[in-house]
Amino acid sequence: MYTRYSDELIEEIRINNDIVDVVSEYVRLEKRGKNYFGLCPFHREKTPSFSVESGKQIFYCFGCGKGGNVFQFVSLAEKLDYIESVRLLADRAKIVLPESDDTEQAEKAKLKQLVLNINLITARYYNDVLNSRHGEPAAAYLKKREISGNTVRKFGIGYSTDEWDNLYQHLRSEGFDDEQLLQSGLVLKSSKSTLYDRFKGRLIFPIFDVRGNVLGFGGRVLDNSLPKYVNSPETPVYSKGKHLYALNFAKNSDSKKLIVVEGYMDVISLHQSGINNVVASLGTALTDSQGRILKKYADEIVISYDADTAGQAATQRGLDLLNEMGCSVKVLTVPDGKDPDEYIRKNGPDGFKKLVDSALSLVEYKIKVLRSEQDLTATEGKIAFLNKAAIVLSKVDNIMEREMYIKKLSREYEISEDAILSEVMRRTKPAAKQSLKIANAVEAARKVTTAGDEIDEKLLHDERLILSLLCVDNSTYKTVKENFNTMFFTSAENTRVAELVFSRLENRRDFTPAELLDAVNPEDTGKFARILKEECYCDDNRRAILGKIRDIGVLKAEKRQKQILEQLNDKSKLSEGDVDKLKQELKDMTQKMNNIKGM
Ligand code: UTP
Ligand code: MN
Repeated sequence: MYTRYSDELIEEIRINNDIVDVVSEYVRLEKRGKNYFGLCPFHREKTPSFSVESGKQIFYCFGCGKGGNVFQFVSLAEKLDYIESVRLLADRAKIVLPESDDTEQAEKAKLKQLVLNINLITARYYNDVLNSRHGEPAAAYLKKREISGNTVRKFGIGYSTDEWDNLYQHLRSEGFDDEQLLQSGLVLKSSKSTLYDRFKGRLIFPIFDVRGNVLGFGGRVLDNSLPKYVNSPETPVYSKGKHLYALNFAKNSDSKKLIVVEGYMDVISLHQSGINNVVASLGTALTDSQGRILKKYADEIVISYDADTAGQAATQRGLDLLNEMGCSVKVLTVPDGKDPDEYIRKNGPDGFKKLVDSALSLVEYKIKVLRSEQDLTATEGKIAFLNKAAIVLSKVDNIMEREMYIKKLSREYEISEDAILSEVMRRTKPAAKQSLKIANAVEAARKVTTAGDEIDEKLLHDERLILSLLCVDNSTYKTVKENFNTMFFTSAENTRVAELVFSRLENRRDFTPAELLDAVNPEDTGKFARILKEECYCDDNRRAILGKIRDIGVLKAEKRQKQILEQLNDKSKLSEGDVDKLKQELKDMTQKMNNIKGM
């Protein structure tokens, strides 16, 4: 299956995948000092405790304790094993891996690039057609819909004439062969095996990714014929439900809010009116992958779907997911069954902004949907409604928020607050214990461990700190070597890592923090990441190391003292001579400790 990749190759892949860039594809990061902060993608939180440090190329979350290098980040984020994440990042950096699987990967990367090229040429071609004499019907249509020339340019809108194979012929003249063109999904094979264009007589909307690559297209008819839209099929670069239309523009808006609409025309119309924090999901439901992308770019998501789509189970799942990830989710319903495009053209940007401001919270929206499903004039309907609403409310973690909804519900439906509350409480899980902070749990665990274990834990920690400092500042190797030895490490694991680090540095090769995180036992990655993050900042690493070596000396002496005291407590097992010897050693130990402390 897989042969181990060489350290050099791993290092090349690492260097070509800056951790800040990679994490930024998942988490919206803000720079503070030399660190970047964002909301942790691995646990639910509302204030950022997830940090990335560019210098050390590591990440660490103060909230959940997860940490590591870029490979470990990708493993966690994509749920991949280590080697799969290495492959993914190699692919991202366009580095070709040696094995046969990976030639496959390289082939895939090449194919993707090819399709992107075909798409780009196609977008230009369709745009040229729109601007030519052949584009007149489309230009007239756009004018009717009040789409300006600037907007056409910005969104790269184009037109495909109503001919059999104009695009196909153009792409052939650009040097692509049939096989390649079929991969792009832009042409189809007829029963007579000739190739013809997918889009005919349609207004063309290129779909861009955040970097501005053209992933695919949507094409709208100019009249009321069906199907209204034809879209690119699944291709090596485009998958339905994986992208958000106009994110390349919306990501630059100053707003922390992103509005999600259904269609091309809604996005285009809103952007043209100056509301540029808008994207479209281009399908019927909001998918999980789209949810994750949204989370990365915004703290607050406003969904503006028509009532049917917003209520769909799939969309609800996407919204719940966003909510679980810590986003504030709101639902906007445009009155009178209109879509945002129609509404803004009639009521202007201010009218639409008012709708955004009055959007319902996800809970309010869900309750509204439940109400619409029940006949509240009948007793059964009212009870069914209350039961279902109680389930929704029981999932609201914030007690004050929950209380507010209960009050509101009570007022609106004339049900006593107590009745609602008791229904809600019946359904809440014993969440208090669950949400006990990890930090508290660790604290609690620490208190019950014996003092001896505590010393061991401190020893292991100080040793890890020495190893970390060594990797942060390779020039401290000389100091370590003069004062410490790999044999002095207390655990087999720390000894193993130390031997690795020492031997590399002995051979005058460097060893980076990110490499250290690869070298350590996966269980310890978080611990090392925390140390690298929080304890390796001082300007005098040599002194820090000497300090830790001294601490280790004290700890070891303390540990021995404790052992002696324990033995002395149970004198029955000891001879006179033993007792004297132990007492002497204890005295020496104390002397030694005082010496070290006075160093
Ligand atoms: P709409 O029917 O609301 O279209 O579908 P629209 O974008 O508002 O277009 P206009 O205003 O009638 O011109 C919303 C979205 O659903 C997808 C498209 O992405 C569309 O923008 N859709 C719709 C399709 O993919 N195929 C269809 O046949 C219809
Ligand atoms: Mn519309």
